[in-house]
Amino acid sequence: MMEGDITDGSVGDPPIVVTINNKTYTVGPEVPPWTTLVDFIRERAKLPGTKYLCREGGCGVCTVVATRPDPLTPGASTTHSLHSCQTLVYSCAGWSIETIENLGNRYDGYHSLQKALTGFYGTQCGYCSPGMIMAMYGQMKSLGSVSSEDVEATLDGNLCRCTGYRPILDAFKSLATDAPEHLKNKLVDIEDAYKNKCSSTGNWCKGVCKPGSGDKNCSNKVNGLNKQAITVPEEFMVTVGAVIWYRPTSLEKLYNILRGMNPQVKVKMIAGNTGEGVYKSDFPYSAYISIASVIELYNVQADSSLSLGACLTLRRCIEAFEHMADNTPGFQHLAVLAEHWKKVANTSVRNMGSWAGNLMLKHNNPEFPSDVFLTLYTAGAKLTIGNSDTKTGVSVTLDTFLQMEMNKNVILGMTLPPIPRNVHIRTFKITPRSVNAHAYVNAGFRLKINPKNGFQVIEVPTIAYGGINPNFIQCEKAGKYLLNRKLSDSTVLLKALKLIGQEVVPNSEPQLADPKYRTLLAQTLFYKTVIKILGKRVSAIIRSGGLTLDRPLSSGSQVFDMNKETWPVGEPIPKIESTVQCSGEAEYVNDIPASPDEVHGAFVLSQYACATIKHVDPAPALAVPGVLSYVSSSDIPGKNSFVAKAGKFVDPIFAEEGVLYCGQPIGLIVAEDRDIAVKAAKLVQIEYSDIETPVLTIQEALEKGRYELAEDWQTGEAEEFTKGNFYAKFRETKHKLVGQLVQGTQFHLTMEPLSARVVPIEDGYDVFCTTQWPTETQESTAQVLGIPAHRINVSVRRIGGGYGAKISRQHIVSGAAAVAARKLKRTVRINLDLHANMAIAGWREPYLSKYEVGFDDTGRVEALKIEITSDAGHCRNNVSSGWLRGRLQNCYEFPSLIVRPLAVTTDTAANTWCRAPGSTEAVATTENIMEHIATYLQLDPLEVRKANMLTMLGPVERNVLVEDILPILEKKIMYQQRKQEIASFNKANRWRKKGLSILPLLYPLHYPSSFRYGIQVVIYEHDGTVAISHGGIEMGQGINTKVAQVAAHTLNIPLELVTVKASNTMAGANSKVTGGSYGSDLCAHGVKVACSKIIDRMTTLKEDEQTWQELVKKCHSHDLDLCERYWTASREHPDGYSIWAAASLEVELDVLTGQYLIQSCDIVEDCGRSMNPYVDIGQIEGSLIMGFGMYTSEEVKFEHDTGKKISTSTWEYKVPTAFDIPVKMNVTLLPNANNPFGVLGSKATGEPALNLTFVVVTALREAIASARADAGTTGWFTLDTPLTVEKIQQLCLVKPRQMVLRSSEEQDTLDIEDEDFVLVETQQIPDVSSESQTEDSCRLT
Ligand SMILES: Cc1cc2nc3c(=O)[nH]c(=O)nc-3n(C[C@H](O)[C@H](O)[C@H](O)COP(=O)(O)OP(=O)(O)OC[C@H]3O[C@@H](n4cnc5c(N)ncnc54)[C@H](O)[C@@H]3O)c2cc1C
Ligand code: FES
Ligand code: FES
Repeated sequence: MMEGDITDGSVGDPPIVVTINNKTYTVGPEVPPWTTLVDFIRERAKLPGTKYLCREGGCGVCTVVATRPDPLTPGASTTHSLHSCQTLVYSCAGWSIETIENLGNRYDGYHSLQKALTGFYGTQCGYCSPGMIMAMYGQMKSLGSVSSEDVEATLDGNLCRCTGYRPILDAFKSLATDAPEHLKNKLVDIEDAYKNKCSSTGNWCKGVCKPGSGDKNCSNKVNGLNKQAITVPEEFMVTVGAVIWYRPTSLEKLYNILRGMNPQVKVKMIAGNTGEGVYKSDFPYSAYISIASVIELYNVQADSSLSLGACLTLRRCIEAFEHMADNTPGFQHLAVLAEHWKKVANTSVRNMGSWAGNLMLKHNNPEFPSDVFLTLYTAGAKLTIGNSDTKTGVSVTLDTFLQMEMNKNVILGMTLPPIPRNVHIRTFKITPRSVNAHAYVNAGFRLKINPKNGFQVIEVPTIAYGGINPNFIQCEKAGKYLLNRKLSDSTVLLKALKLIGQEVVPNSEPQLADPKYRTLLAQTLFYKTVIKILGKRVSAIIRSGGLTLDRPLSSGSQVFDMNKETWPVGEPIPKIESTVQCSGEAEYVNDIPASPDEVHGAFVLSQYACATIKHVDPAPALAVPGVLSYVSSSDIPGKNSFVAKAGKFVDPIFAEEGVLYCGQPIGLIVAEDRDIAVKAAKLVQIEYSDIETPVLTIQEALEKGRYELAEDWQTGEAEEFTKGNFYAKFRETKHKLVGQLVQGTQFHLTMEPLSARVVPIEDGYDVFCTTQWPTETQESTAQVLGIPAHRINVSVRRIGGGYGAKISRQHIVSGAAAVAARKLKRTVRINLDLHANMAIAGWREPYLSKYEVGFDDTGRVEALKIEITSDAGHCRNNVSSGWLRGRLQNCYEFPSLIVRPLAVTTDTAANTWCRAPGSTEAVATTENIMEHIATYLQLDPLEVRKANMLTMLGPVERNVLVEDILPILEKKIMYQQRKQEIASFNKANRWRKKGLSILPLLYPLHYPSSFRYGIQVVIYEHDGTVAISHGGIEMGQGINTKVAQVAAHTLNIPLELVTVKASNTMAGANSKVTGGSYGSDLCAHGVKVACSKIIDRMTTLKEDEQTWQELVKKCHSHDLDLCERYWTASREHPDGYSIWAAASLEVELDVLTGQYLIQSCDIVEDCGRSMNPYVDIGQIEGSLIMGFGMYTSEEVKFEHDTGKKISTSTWEYKVPTAFDIPVKMNVTLLPNANNPFGVLGSKATGEPALNLTFVVVTALREAIASARADAGTTGWFTLDTPLTVEKIQQLCLVKPRQMVLRSSEEQDTLDIEDEDFVLVETQQIPDVSSESQTEDSCRLT
């Protein structure tokens, strides 16, 4: 032990106690100190409602609410949300935790937040729902009540991949103090029983009561929740095995512990422990010191300066900053810091994370673009650093702090001085998405100005940046240059920009943005600051460049026909599982309780893409206590391939001699505990030889000849498609263009990762897993184990999102679990961690489309040739480019057409289908061509689209786009008027641009003959209730709700009598995958036929005035079979049909940074007679937001030499958040629509809308084109997707010499050489359009 007087306790003396949902848990020695709260909640407290995915604070599904002693107010407690994946359970000693289970359940009733989310159709797969609710609940408890603005701000760290966020925001806003009337009324309409008025206060229920108030009998069950047992922080020290956990309560004791530490001991000091989300733990540690109870570290003092203790959370600091800015002269600038810190991480991280912890991350990892460091540096803060040997503190500047040795030192606090009014402080954070993202570059400027003398700079300014390189802090030369010079002088500004350009030298790392972009941002952000300071002294056209894009509150509208005559089919009821999803009662694979013999597997992944495995040594992993076995290809009794029907090429479960991609599983570590398995898997030693540089892109693969004509997966044929005589037409046509479009990949990011649980049983194995295709799971498992299919039973209750991720890639996980279960003769569970999931699984196929197009003066295409290539990854099992000939024609008529579909192989994980695979890329290709033509002819792209519209339709079809949808949409958004307004806006603003675009869609839906599903409907004689099992999979798309509605309608009984059971390989034997928007349609159809058959039988015995239950009993007594099985591939199989839709989208772009806002998106889609309008609207909105993410922020990066995917975390991979959705999201289901070929007149909605999401690119193109025109470049430009903030800004061709203060008419005469201004040239994007190109030069290779 060390010197000191801290209590030398052992576990249990005093006991470490955590209260969860008012129940006390003692944390015993069986719980290792690194155990996270989420694992404790799920594994020990057996509360599976709290989920996890990223385990790094980036997704929010693990959110719970903590009530803990408030160090700022003795005796009081504080309540807030936190990420249970980041909080260690030992840190929670004495705290009271609430999980979703505490809010409500099916026995005791539901909380108003749960009811609201249900009532607003805010769940699809439901995996994010408990986390969403807990985040909101924590904020409500913390603030007492919330406004609509609070609601949006609260959800900045909670991801949802299904819904598109709009219904979630609406649900929670309906409980806000300023809830819009239409939201309040909507909820009440849906279910009066929700009783949203508080019977005690008479006010709108806020979902939570202040202590002591509220009605004790309130059904919203909020009373008593503030009465959790909280114990005051006690110091303790516990020894668990070889690890010691310390919790000192005073600085003296902390110093003593640090002093007594042996320098060899690996220690982790913990405040909020959120830093783990950014830089992963250097596991294992021998000692943990929780400093969160050291009372001196919570000091808050405001006199001539503001002093804040080191353990204050970011949230508490923001509150202090706002208070000081509002109330204390000299501290107005803290409002700037508060705004900036609100963009640090997300609400739950800010609730737990301390500013000092953030600075230590920067200290230990100088490359970290810390916003806290940057802003405090700009504000001139000083730190007090305490030394444990001397027990004294020293005051240091932030740059000195970075150089200090911090071993045995503690940050004690910071001091912020007042700042005179004439000092301008401005900070920026430029990020790949709106919130919860690290900065490409952040910047802080501090300029003391004399406005009366040309805005003379009267003190050396601070010009600081983060995200440049590990050593860079500020531009000293530029600062010195500016001293005593006038900002209003354009020459001074340009010279300063030049100096900034010279001083800012970014490093180049694959995960970072382009160094040129980062230098340019450093310049544009300084320019923005100067524009803002000068205000009206700069030309009006330039002024908006000084502003940032401010996002107003978002809203949405949904318009649809009620079609009451067929209810419950067509009735907008909430999804039938939504209440259990919102209460955490819905069971997902990883929630199935563990059996006593159960063990866990974690994959050992290859570190190279192309290499031979020389030797594998699992010994270091096997030496870890709790590790049981290493499983590899030699343990596979059957075939080492997890592919059965989902492809014809072998894709191994475990690599054998060589590896095929970086991240490929080589083996599996099996351990008693998941955490141990994951940690031990990293210890397996692998020796490689023959390491080669991998092929990672389509272009490289084409150059190496690694391509083939892609097969049509339905016909199995691989051929070019030819229509008319392209070559003759192309020769004759007046205008010719060539071009290309690169479309990037997309990770599905289902909130539930790939998981499997394989249970050995007497005659085989029970498999519970996250599959979209149980039949393939059954076949693949049988193949791997070398046993008959009838010995494998697959069962799926629901999955937490699919989007194609769980069709074929699932089986690598279930196959490995099966092999391990056989080897160990025990139940094996694998629940992939996000990093492994992203590395192992293939993503959406990247695409490269090249085209030659000939057209007339109106833009009408006469000849079109497209070579469309997809990247299959290492094997061509799930290729979509072979079936795109129809999709490429979208809603257009091309007289001559050649489509050459190719698939390349690269040294990456085998890619796979992702929501609307191929069709999305095909439509984007064609729409890109329409844009190209329009730019060339200088026509409105919509006119070009209309000129090409399909006229030759089948006998019963009409062009619904031309006749109905486009007129509705154009009128709704006032297209012509908005176009003119946007043109005027763009003319009046050099640095702010808008763009508006409309895309049309024809999505032909034909049921492929292989898509068949087994259906079983049973009626129970006991009470007439009905149960259904179908071969489809509920993954959020509402298949169960739709089939229940159809059954209730067909049997003419109340919906409450119908329930839908888990899918399995008995009732649903031989069923096809649920995907491609086919599942809901065909299963609903099958249920309708099955129910009709039963009802036909029953009708023979029906009497007047007889209840349903009486009829059922009578039928039973007459030996009539009350069950029906149906196979959907019979003659009643519905035909295919056309889905028509169009979407418009308006963006506003900040040219100087590349950041943009989607101001509005309107979609009109023909869903026929929707079976459930809100389920369909949910599909449409979810598709749109997923597609917007794909085309903008979701970017993959690889390490060039190893082929390692770098973007395998929420820190690097950015899917849209609630702040990235359109500010206005309006959905209209086409009125008076029908469908003679669909189920009860309906049409599918799962995928089509995603085909329209390229509209975000076409709208951005318009805004970018305007910026380029101002920069002197007009005409076509090629752009690659994802169109990231970084790429957008580079495409705008911004150059430092354009950063003037007055428009060209008012421009000063500059007195320095022009070449001085050529500081950073943005990359020139080659312009491929040319009328003069010859036929040969246009030819595709
Ligand atoms: C999802 C996510 C997003 C984020 N986004 C951003 C962002 O956009 N911008 C940004 O700037 N940051 C961001 N962060 C970082 C976040 O601000 C920090 O994780 C947090 O502030 C760290 O505080 P903590 O109390 O949790 O530190 P801990 O994780 O507890 O500690 C971090 C380190 O600091 C040490 N430490 C803590 N307190 C002291 C002390 N008083 N004296 C000496 N050493 C100490 C610890 O030993 C440890 O080494 C993000 C984090 C996450 C998880
Ligand atoms: S699992 Fe905790 S935030 Fe993602
Ligand atoms: S409902 Fe949000 S992730 Fe599925």
